[in-house]
Amino acid sequence: MGRGNNRRRSEALSWGVMREGKAIWTINAVPGHSVYGESLRRIQSMECRRWDPTRSKLGAGILRTRNDAARLLPVEGTTVLYLGAGHGTSISHLHDHLCGQDNELKGRLVAVDLAPRCLRELTHMAKSRPGLVPVLGDARKHAAWGVLLPRKVDWLFQDVAQAGQVDIFIGACRRFLNIGGTGLLSLKAASERWTGEGEAALFEKVERQLQSSGFDVEERIELTGYEDNHVLFHVIRTE
Ligand SMILES: C[S@@+](CC[C@H](N)C(=O)[O-])C[C@H]1O[C@@H](n2cnc3c(N)ncnc32)[C@H](O)[C@@H]1O
Repeated sequence: MGRGNNRRRSEALSWGVMREGKAIWTINAVPGHSVYGESLRRIQSMECRRWDPTRSKLGAGILRTRNDAARLLPVEGTTVLYLGAGHGTSISHLHDHLCGQDNELKGRLVAVDLAPRCLRELTHMAKSRPGLVPVLGDARKHAAWGVLLPRKVDWLFQDVAQAGQVDIFIGACRRFLNIGGTGLLSLKAASERWTGEGEAALFEKVERQLQSSGFDVEERIELTGYEDNHVLFHVIRTE
């Protein structure tokens, strides 16, 4: 993909992720194959998949961040933890970046979800995407699947959209995220039991909770427009 300028004013966020205005593209780790109906296109002789930000909070965060979007991505070839994998939309693009074709980069993407239907889809996806490790499990019950991560990771993403999601995130980071590591929490306001003054106050309260729990909040990224009533917290674990 290269890092040079071209006429489309594209920006390489990593070796395999490129932003072009409001579009994001990842180099397809499974050439010829579209995962969720996204378009495919050749860019500088490599087949790329269009990352739909309306179906992926990580994708929306990349387009919405005011900071360097590359900081939202893990280092390629590392091991990462993703809680709330869903049907694998974000996972597939993350895998393109982290692992590449036939896992040439030797990444490992541990993807946890409670729902058997999601797991069936992820397991099917993993057949053509080595490095993807689908786990049928509860993000709150580390004992059942934590053995898959004998060492802490430097990147952890959570999108479980259920009540108590902040405590789940804090617990998972304490158990699995290195100090200095990057945590991304997709927060769905409607999932919280909240009787206060509205969403803005809820997001403020969560930010304070994260700060008092050993995290620097790098950015609170508003996803409205792509995912209404959601924010993505970008944090660094400090203690
Ligand atoms: C909004 S979807 C995730 C979408 C996905 N992150 C994406 O961008 O493609 C939320 C997922 O979290 C899962 N989930 C909810 N509670 C969970 C828990 N406690 N542990 C693991 N997964 C959970 C649900 O089954 C659902 O698939």
